[in-house]
Amino acid sequence: MISLRQRVARWLLPVLLCVLLLNALYGQRAARESLDRVYDRSLLASAHLIAERTHANQGEVVVDLPYAALEVTNERVYYGVFWPDGAVITGYDDLPHAIEPGREQAVNDTTYRGQPVRVAVMRKPLYDPQLSRASHVLVVVAETVDGRAELAHELLIERLRSQSLLVVVGVLLFWVAIARALRPLTLLGMAFHSRRDDDLTPVGIDGIPSELRPLIVAVNHHMQRIAAMLQARKRFVADAAHQLRTPLAVLRTQIDYGLRQADPAEARQALVANGHSVRHMQRLANQLLSLSSAEAINGLARDRAAVDLTALARDVAADLSLLAIERHIDLGFESAVPPGAATPVWGHEALLREMVVNLVDNALRYTQAGGSVTVKVAPVHGDLGEQGDQGVCLSVTDTGPGIPPAEREKVFKRFYRILGETRTEGSGLGLAIVREIVQAHGGRLQLTDGPDACGLQVRVVLPRPPGTEAGLTPHGEALGQAG
Ligand SMILES: Nc1ncnc2c1ncn2[C@@H]1O[C@H](COP(=O)(O)OP(=O)(O)OP(=O)(O)O)[C@@H](O)[C@H]1O
Ligand SMILES: [Mg+2]
Repeated sequence: MISLRQRVARWLLPVLLCVLLLNALYGQRAARESLDRVYDRSLLASAHLIAERTHANQGEVVVDLPYAALEVTNERVYYGVFWPDGAVITGYDDLPHAIEPGREQAVNDTTYRGQPVRVAVMRKPLYDPQLSRASHVLVVVAETVDGRAELAHELLIERLRSQSLLVVVGVLLFWVAIARALRPLTLLGMAFHSRRDDDLTPVGIDGIPSELRPLIVAVNHHMQRIAAMLQARKRFVADAAHQLRTPLAVLRTQIDYGLRQADPAEARQALVANGHSVRHMQRLANQLLSLSSAEAINGLARDRAAVDLTALARDVAADLSLLAIERHIDLGFESAVPPGAATPVWGHEALLREMVVNLVDNALRYTQAGGSVTVKVAPVHGDLGEQGDQGVCLSVTDTGPGIPPAEREKVFKRFYRILGETRTEGSGLGLAIVREIVQAHGGRLQLTDGPDACGLQVRVVLPRPPGTEAGLTPHGEALGQAG
């Protein structure tokens, strides 16, 4: 785990060091130039002093060397006075004394006797009519540059020292600044730590730096969703426990009653009733499980596959055909695709089967004897969907009593049964399960009147597997029209 400080420091320190180095190099050059200007001035002053003491007298050049002119600095100083043609008049005869034509004085870097020197050359005009060789002489003063280099080096060290100090102070300030800037985060962490486990109230954003606000807002949103989910879970568990308590109490009474019977026929009767209650509870338990697994996969794209809804619905209809015969109901299945063609949807086969079973079961349960139930599967093109979705529609139509429009939202609630529903027993979970499964699959669900305004039609539209073209099966066959 790398801290924010380390992260910033790792980035900042090398950059700062580079800047420091560049600045030192530049400073070194600038210092050397300033030093040269100062030293050159005194070098030229020496040359001027010698020039002032150089005269022509009756055709002779006389140099009255002022020794003070040669002791201005600690450097070793060389001098010379030359004729323009290079012949020496006095001083070191091998001293470099070149000067560009037309210039009165010049200062240059050169080497003399194997060491770097700075040399000043100036022209000294001489007004003596008897002087025939030239009208001027060259005065040359050279000095070694060790002192300048040493001084420049000292300046550089001094500069580096002060800048390093600056960097150290900067880094310390930066360290403290980050700690201060991150303080709200630490406080937030402490606030979270001291919270109760079930405390999901939003975190206040007062005093939170604006950079952290999006994070806090997102966390608050997330906590709100979790709180809603937990609330729903709690309600569900309470409802489920309540629903299980009644059949368990009935079972207990039946058992007690059976045990009290001396007559084996009566005891057997009680056992039959027991079996009935147990079946009811079994169904309830299975429904609760389906609901909870549909909830669990809601929003997750895991474990999905292409499921052929036509084959699945046909299968369910076949399974429930005996029940239909028992209840004297005409159960029919219609497919809108030719035999062998598929209408794939993207989902969990077991949950989709549970959904179809619940819908057909309801239709068979609530339709009176002599009525009919039709299960139909057909591809749709933007039928129920808001964005003109492409999918597969399953409809279950019956000729029963239907559901009044005022009840159509309520019947999807868990454990809700229409008031006065006594024809069959049930727990009011079937449609809640259907809705949960449809939502988990990103599908849409609609309750309408059946044809001729009688009975009920439930329509479910489910999306196709990703990447399958509308109107085509996974095998590339074109889907036919309803027939
Ligand atoms: N096809 C239908 N025709 C008329 N009413 C229906 C139909 N389907 C459902 N209902 C009404 O909607 C109510 C809720 O249905 P749901 O399937 O959720 O529960 P249930 O059938 O009562 O019990 P469960 O399905 O849990 O055994 C039912 O009690 C019934 O009154
Ligand atoms: Mg039902």
